[in-house]
Amino acid sequence: MPDDFVVTPWEVKGDIDYERLIQTFGTQKVDEAIIGKFTEHTGELHTMLKRGIFYSHRDMDKIFKDFETGKGFVLYTGRGPSGHTHLGHLMPWIFTKYIQDKFGVELYFQLTDDEKFLFGPDLTLEDTKHFAYENALDIIAMGFDKDKTHIFLDTEYANQMYNIAIRVSKKVTFSTAKAVFGFDNSTNIGAIWFTSMQAATSFLPSVLKGQNIRCLIPCAIDQDPHFRVTRDIAEGIGFYKPALIHCKMLPSLAGSDKMSASLPNTSIFTIDTPKEIKKKIGNAFTGGCASVEEQKEQGGNPEICSVFQYLYYIFEEDEDKLAERKSQCLSGELLCGYCKQYLTEKVTTFLQAHQERREAARDIIEDYMLRDCLCKEE
Ligand code: TYM
Repeated sequence: MPDDFVVTPWEVKGDIDYERLIQTFGTQKVDEAIIGKFTEHTGELHTMLKRGIFYSHRDMDKIFKDFETGKGFVLYTGRGPSGHTHLGHLMPWIFTKYIQDKFGVELYFQLTDDEKFLFGPDLTLEDTKHFAYENALDIIAMGFDKDKTHIFLDTEYANQMYNIAIRVSKKVTFSTAKAVFGFDNSTNIGAIWFTSMQAATSFLPSVLKGQNIRCLIPCAIDQDPHFRVTRDIAEGIGFYKPALIHCKMLPSLAGSDKMSASLPNTSIFTIDTPKEIKKKIGNAFTGGCASVEEQKEQGGNPEICSVFQYLYYIFEEDEDKLAERKSQCLSGELLCGYCKQYLTEKVTTFLQAHQERREAARDIIEDYMLRDCLCKEE
């Protein structure tokens, strides 16, 4: 890992050089050929593909091939329930929904309550279970297909998961875990074991179906280390290597690093009220100048502006409007206050509708949950 920035499943900081990460992690760039396949099969390229936000992959070509030959594929993604869902988490979910809608495929959604208990010194298992169910409301509110979406908590779907994870863990040595994740002798052994659980879901659909099916994992690039380990051992235990498609990280409202649940004032959560949204965006870091006069004269800098980044990553889908905003910012025509107000309106409208669906999800949560057969019989 280069030393000017850090990207691991548990820490993201600094000014991320995404091209360099492709080399460091050994992934592939989403190139013209992959974009061409998406266009061919979906008819409508997602904004996150057009803008290079989903920019890196592993084995997407195999996913398209399996789809074309009728073998099919499934989706797998997840969330580590350390707190409420923030807007950064929604990015892979928005994209996952696009794939589910366009390809009509099943989705397996892992909630790693064990992970956040093992890695979070201040979180009890009750806390992480509680947040898992809170996060599940957000997942359902995204509008995934009820008949094709299966959500589970690691600790509650433990019978099924343990039987796969143990096969994974036999193939992963402590020295691999140390090299990939930076563990040392003071790391608790639960944390060392955990990657077996995240890997196991890649094989769960094959186990449940009784025949091998490839899975595609949409996630931000920070989760890739788990799946490097998974891919190395997959064939050795009789499964396909999972394919991945990675996105860049939504920055925090402070303008650097990623949006993070541990920095509540610079992250927008799905449960935030209009007042909180307004306050957080009002305090956001922008690319503006110290005074209005200076900005009118010199223009702003959208590249470093967190407000512009939020529009770019999620909230302004219209290419022309985004380009116009950028040029008006650069020329000094547009002042930061207007952009903040525009983003506040976009986020508030989006979250109000999300929160309504989130409340409605409380009544149907069980329809989505995967349960161990043992639990049902008891
Ligand atoms: P977690 O809870 O840290 O993140 C959930 C998903 O959100 C992505 N993500 C972000 N994407 C864009 N911008 C951000 N600022 C940002 N922060 C987080 C993550 O990459 C992830 O896709 N160990 C995992 C849970 C997990 C999982 C998986 C994730 C289990 N299986 C399979 C992805 C795929 C975790 O703690 O994710």
